[in-house]
Amino acid sequence: MDFFTENSIVKKAVVCAKNRSIISLFDVPNRVDCFSVSAAELYLDYSKQNITKVELEYLISWANDNALAQKINGMFSGEIINNTEQRAVLHTVLRAPSSVKHQVLGKEATEVEQTEQYMAQIVDDICQGKLTGVTGEKFTDVLAIGIGGSYYGIKVGLSALHPYHSTGLKVHVLANVDGAAVTEKLETLHAATTLVVIISKTFTTQETLLNAKAIKRWMLAELNDTNAIAKQWYAVSSNVEKAKSFGLNTENILPMWDWVGGRFSLWSAVGLPLALAIGNKHFTELKAGAYAMDQHFKTTSFDQNMPVLMALIGMWNRNGLNYQSLAVLPYDHALRALPGYLQQTDMESNGKSVSKQGEKLNWVTAPIVFGQEGTNGQHAFMQLMHQSDEIIPTDFIVALQGTSDLNEHHKVLVANCFAQSEALMQGKNLTQAQDELIANGASKEEVSRLASHKTMKGNTPSNTLLMQSLTPKCLGAILALYEHKIFVQGSLWQVNSYDQWGVELGKQLSEQVLALMSDNSTSHQMSPSSVKLIETFVQKQTTN
Ligand code: F6P
Repeated sequence: MDFFTENSIVKKAVVCAKNRSIISLFDVPNRVDCFSVSAAELYLDYSKQNITKVELEYLISWANDNALAQKINGMFSGEIINNTEQRAVLHTVLRAPSSVKHQVLGKEATEVEQTEQYMAQIVDDICQGKLTGVTGEKFTDVLAIGIGGSYYGIKVGLSALHPYHSTGLKVHVLANVDGAAVTEKLETLHAATTLVVIISKTFTTQETLLNAKAIKRWMLAELNDTNAIAKQWYAVSSNVEKAKSFGLNTENILPMWDWVGGRFSLWSAVGLPLALAIGNKHFTELKAGAYAMDQHFKTTSFDQNMPVLMALIGMWNRNGLNYQSLAVLPYDHALRALPGYLQQTDMESNGKSVSKQGEKLNWVTAPIVFGQEGTNGQHAFMQLMHQSDEIIPTDFIVALQGTSDLNEHHKVLVANCFAQSEALMQGKNLTQAQDELIANGASKEEVSRLASHKTMKGNTPSNTLLMQSLTPKCLGAILALYEHKIFVQGSLWQVNSYDQWGVELGKQLSEQVLALMSDNSTSHQMSPSSVKLIETFVQKQTTN
């Protein structure tokens, strides 16, 4: 049953919501207090959402009718909820206490804890110079090679926790297969003092392997020592055989488990490059912050449950009010990689149209997630958000305390964040635009010429997520918050949030294109457009 189209109460409520102003909802006293919640050192103000208490109660009872609590417990206890790959989803165990690991994983907990300890030991040994390159020099740089979930979490962590980089190691990430990305990295690296970490759960990802081979060639050529790969390379993968055949020492291969999805894997040894930058203590704090959000999610009633509230309101906006997108606007330079990270976490998890049982869904699912750091977005896409007909729900994220000593800058940043959420909600009608022009001395002609150009639709709903400051714990809590929001939405949309078959066709066709580029007689299923493009590329290569 589709809650949003077949549920008559909700249908009426949605019609009402579409015809009211969010600002009018503040006529109800104490709206802000009733529509805000704190958890794991985060504070969520969702009072600027276009929803009333009664409507929210409908959603919560619907979630209860759909056994959400049981589904949450099922995930945490290791039920096979990734049904197409027959896997559990247990990235949360990686940040849980030892007792929980042993309770949920049984004997596998030992390997998980050994890996954790080994990872911490690698960090210590490298920082203390016990582990060096083949020339005996201490490592100065770390190069993490991976893409998707084997990249985004590290990238978010490195930029978000820049003030917590404490080991002195410079950590770089290499994801795109574009040679420009490779050569740009090599400009700054010295082979003798570079540690390489290949991250690939399957160890078959085309981009990662090609990049790794290029870096391997570079390092062997620079050092002229075949021991370099064994001594200066680690891998994080579930495919030990392929990692070994690449030339890695078995003891330098750290495991990934099937029950950890790539886009949820930062908490595993995938986080090694981040731990090498921020140190073991801060990496432990990152996991502790996520664990605090896990506990909140598992134990808090839905009406005070931050991930559940964000999920249900997100579905109200998506399926009830039919808003297609979600803007994630961190007003924080350090969180500039978060929108990209959430594009994978959200859209690769719930960007589906078939149920877990394989039936076509008759409702839409994941929104188009986009965003960039504020205030930059105000000089890019906020014009559309204010004056197009598209209503784009927005998540603002901001720290009360900045990490620089430029306090005036931070005040302006926060002021812009708060002002944008207010402007998106208030808008500006024609009368207000006219009055403003008159007050500024505009002539009657100017008023009639300009006023309509200055109107703004308003009524755009938003969340504002506050934290005291962007610490490892708060970052962990933010990432876990969105993981759980996505879990709740996927559960209620009845999709499998943990597979990603949609990436397969592109991979298959890229193999065909590559074959056609080297031999145009190979059989293919390409359109005349793609054939022409391939021919153009091939001709260009031959004329070069
Ligand atoms: O984007 C598709 C995907 O399979 C992601 O789910 C995954 O994080 C990424 O590619 C990299 O995969 P691997 O870690 O196996 O190299």
